[in-house]
Amino acid sequence: MLDINKEIAQLNWNKEPRGLYEPIEYTLASGGKRLRPHLAIIAAEAVINGGLINSMDDVLPAALALEVFHNFTLVHDDVMDRAEVRRGQETVHVKWNDNTAILSGDQMLIEAYKLLAQVPAPKLPQVLKWFNEMATGVCEGQQYDMEFEHMNQVSIEDYLKMIELKTSVLLAYAMRIGGYIAGASPAQQEALYQYGLNIGIAFQIQDDILDVYGDPKTFGKAIGGDICCNKKTILLLTALETTDAESKAELLQWLMSTEQKEEKIAAVTALYNRLGVREACEVVLEEYTSKALAQLDFLPANSATETLRELAEQLAIRKS
Ligand code: IPE
Ligand code: IPE
Ligand code: MG
Ligand code: MG
Ligand code: MG
Repeated sequence: MLDINKEIAQLNWNKEPRGLYEPIEYTLASGGKRLRPHLAIIAAEAVINGGLINSMDDVLPAALALEVFHNFTLVHDDVMDRAEVRRGQETVHVKWNDNTAILSGDQMLIEAYKLLAQVPAPKLPQVLKWFNEMATGVCEGQQYDMEFEHMNQVSIEDYLKMIELKTSVLLAYAMRIGGYIAGASPAQQEALYQYGLNIGIAFQIQDDILDVYGDPKTFGKAIGGDICCNKKTILLLTALETTDAESKAELLQWLMSTEQKEEKIAAVTALYNRLGVREACEVVLEEYTSKALAQLDFLPANSATETLRELAEQLAIRKS
């Protein structure tokens, strides 16, 4: 069994200039769930079914590339979101500065592609094509996410498209790439992709919920950041859709306020509580978890597929 944390710890960042590599080392050593490489590996295990001895080693470079890429997106995302804490420690742009976060982030993207280049040659062209599609999707999603901050007419449909891009495509392609390298059939690849896409939507909905209702100690991020910068999360959009005129006016008033952060977080959270927004969002989250689980019927019945079932269920109630 591959130990992804050990493999990540073995990447060498002992290079000059330290100002470029130290933030990379800091970020990759800060932990996190390592979800994307795990997905790639479990997808491979689900389709191997006891064959192809080298497949797991073959999956490793792509699994590492996915995690380094993910960490790159986090470093830049924290600049864009002005987030100060991640994985319980200072974000790179706070510990160093914005320019360092930009450049170390850029270098992480390059490092991700260096790892990807180690994918077995016959599989590399297809994997590269998918990785590029994924990376473009994330950037498109991040752009929508930022644009939505300044828009008041965002629908839940717009939101779902945005989170599919910024979050789900990475999970979906982690599954597809892992499976493909291990020899998945086209039908299995599609099931793996759809599983990843749907857990990805559920994952981002839970992230939005935890941004309001999480415990900063376990979540590792500051609570209320999304409320402060008017992120069009599913909570906010559900509140805007379901509220009466009076509460809606109150909410819109808060959306215009940039001062009084603590008051804004408290007032908007109180409104969410009054409207039962969290519960409504959890229903949507469950729908996407169910869609993901339905894909498992198209995969071989084995312990890896069982792990995927448990994972989808755990992610739906995760606290970190
Ligand atoms: C954070 O991803 C970004 C989102 C897509 C919500 P994770 O919650 O997987 O972050 P780490 O890697 O475990 O810290
Ligand atoms: C996650 O969006 C998407 C990417 C990082 C690409 P968020 O902005 O919600 O992620 P967190 O909450 O900062 O981890
Ligand atoms: Mg963020
Ligand atoms: Mg963001
Ligand atoms: Mg978030």
